Amino acid sequence: MGARDQEQQMTTVSILGGTGGLGKGLGARWAQAGIDVIVGSRSPERAAAAAEDLAGMVGEAAPHVRGAGNLEAAQAGDVTVVSVPFEGLDEALAPLGDALDGRIVVSVVNPLGFDGAGPYSLPVAEGSAAEAVARRLPGARVVAAFHSVSSVELQRLEGPMDDDVPVVGDDEEAVAVAVELAERIEGIRSFPAGPLRLAAPLEDLTAVLISINKRHRSHVGLRFSRLSR
Ligand SMILES: NC(=O)c1ccc[n+]([C@@H]2O[C@H](COP(=O)([O-])OP(=O)(O)OC[C@H]3O[C@@H](n4cnc5c(N)ncnc54)[C@H](OP(=O)(O)O)[C@@H]3O)[C@@H](O)[C@H]2O)c1
Repeated sequence: MGARDQEQQMTTVSILGGTGGLGKGLGARWAQAGIDVIVGSRSPERAAAAAEDLAGMVGEAAPHVRGAGNLEAAQAGDVTVVSVPFEGLDEALAPLGDALDGRIVVSVVNPLGFDGAGPYSLPVAEGSAAEAVARRLPGARVVAAFHSVSSVELQRLEGPMDDDVPVVGDDEEAVAVAVELAERIEGIRSFPAGPLRLAAPLEDLTAVLISINKRHRSHVGLRFSRLSR
């Protein structure tokens, strides 16, 4: 199946941990773009409440949003976004069993710690959070994206985003689907950036962006100059 066919079929995006800031922001933007969104949570009650909040944010697009436990969300999504803290990967992914086998999974996870000097990269045995996701979901088609997109800016629905979203992954079709998904958000330019093993520098770079934000009271994003495609 080509990427274009997958685009036509890409009707439902599930967001594990969709109750958090990033999940809500992505969910709101996708719902606005006419994509069906399932807000996933460890608790179906929290999922329902977050879906209701999100529906309120998006107004006319509200019918595109619903909540579900993470397992039900994973089973129902054409694409599943893993949007939980790095420390929560085991708890979030272990109960899913083989529900995501053969499915496209997008890791947005940044393995970061914070101390008095600000954000810093946590060591990850697998190399990166995305590879840790892939290790825990061996049958899934894991890609990584959205690391440096601000949840605050995503939730500011009145204006377009102003970000580049490089997507890394070893499955070209899965990467193409994630690129398409990113570009459904107004103001985002997205493109394939290489294999999954390059997830670590993208994840780590977010520590620099957060440090910039703290110093300059901003929500900076990434833009790559002179990209031809
Ligand atoms: N915030 C940003 O601007 C931003 C930008 C780019 C990437 N990211 C990455 O995106 C991910 C989500 O960010 P966020 O700010 O939305 O995070 P968050 O609010 O801290 O967490 C998101 C959701 O994850 C679930 N969760 C929390 N702890 C968990 C655990 N131990 N096990 C399983 N699930 C757990 C919670 O949902 P339930 O309790 O409902 O299950 C929570 O609402 C992170 O990995 C972050 O590095 C964030």
